[in-house]
Amino acid sequence: MDAHNSERHRRPLFSSRLSIITVAAGSAIGLGNIWKFPYITGKNGGAAFIIVYLCCIALIGLPVLISDFIIGRRGGGSVVSSFRALAGERSPWLFGGFIALFGSATVLSFYGVVAGWSLEYVARAACNDFAGKTPAEIGGMFTDFITSPVAPIACQLLFMAITAGVVYAGVKKGIETFSKVMMPVLIGIILLLCLRSLTLPGAEAGLAFLFKPDFSKLSAAGVLDALGHAFFTLSLGVGTMITYGSYIDKKEDLAVTAVQICIADTVIALLAGVAIFPAVFAFGVEPGQGPGLVFVTLPNIFAQMPGGYIFCILFFLLLAVAALTSSISMLEVSVAYASEDLGVSRKRATLILATLISLVGVVCSLSMGKYEAQLTFFGKNFFDLADFAVSNVEMPIAGALSVIFVGWMLKRRKVEDELTCNGTLPVPLVGAFLFTAKYLAPVAIAIVFLHSLGMI
Ligand code: PFF
Repeated sequence: MDAHNSERHRRPLFSSRLSIITVAAGSAIGLGNIWKFPYITGKNGGAAFIIVYLCCIALIGLPVLISDFIIGRRGGGSVVSSFRALAGERSPWLFGGFIALFGSATVLSFYGVVAGWSLEYVARAACNDFAGKTPAEIGGMFTDFITSPVAPIACQLLFMAITAGVVYAGVKKGIETFSKVMMPVLIGIILLLCLRSLTLPGAEAGLAFLFKPDFSKLSAAGVLDALGHAFFTLSLGVGTMITYGSYIDKKEDLAVTAVQICIADTVIALLAGVAIFPAVFAFGVEPGQGPGLVFVTLPNIFAQMPGGYIFCILFFLLLAVAALTSSISMLEVSVAYASEDLGVSRKRATLILATLISLVGVVCSLSMGKYEAQLTFFGKNFFDLADFAVSNVEMPIAGALSVIFVGWMLKRRKVEDELTCNGTLPVPLVGAFLFTAKYLAPVAIAIVFLHSLGMI
């Protein structure tokens, strides 16, 4: 049943603690931090929302992340074979593995589309396309671009080709090396952007918006947004952290690693807020503009800002780099499954899966076209439907299955072994972790899930 000794040693392992953190934080830090977090914070009134979000990360995201790592490292295989190793050949728990597999492929299909936009916007920024344009013209440029049938697809395919190239090169040579180079670049760019934003006259209002809570602006929907986003931003419920967990050496402290990843992810999300909101307020723009914040409001602000030409390029480069270190982790989930469980060679699996996922992405992109958008399912176009199905349905279910599995099904001794590295590490909060995994996290996830489906 428990394959943790036999399987694990034949698989690649990340080379050091720093590598694990870089790679897993690379997965966590993505469009979610730089595109989605700022706009949902803007929409939900700022600081009060951030406080709720931090509680969701600490009380629910962290236990789910630790559970994913435990399943991956103990199970020692892909997302499906890890469940199989721990629960048994025909166990119903394999369902958790399969839906995570489906989730990771679906997220990548629409994530690749938005990531493709960021590549286009790097080029537009470099060509100084936003200079001298009115806000309405910049908005029109964005709508024309995303609804056109060819350009966004070309960008999406380019992005997917880079993603596939990294995964093709392997876990260590590809994913680990790439993340180790890109994450410092990402941190450098975001710090530069914060510096620019904070030195604009009138920046204080943006900081007050981010850090001075006004709970009257927080709604129940905001609380749900916070929990849903905690899942998305930590790459939970789609097998990524289970797969990455299987590449973590058994000597590493899983709990501390998971805490460090949560901190890194949160700090970058807050820095993205610091890079964006002071500038938004300094230029007197409305902060709660939704998804267009990054692709419409920001180019408009950069076009008016001293030094804006260079900062605009840097911003979209940041978005593209962050998206890439996340997309490779999504593709790795199904590549690991196909190569380990189905016996397809890793390189071939990468090519086939990247192609299939890109094709679904093409449909997502086309679904935003002027005519195609009229084709709706449950009132949503295909893109929104894929996003909703994963973020609001699949991720909470698979995330809940992970914590419930570790909390209720795995023997306490095994959980303790994993958390204490077979008794060699002092981990004082095993009891608290198990309590959260058994009760708190599943109940909170169930509430959000039912609410997001309109059932409570
Ligand atoms: N955590 C990523 C972000 O915040 O952009 C999104 C993500 C990455 C979701 C990897 C799922 C995943 F498997």
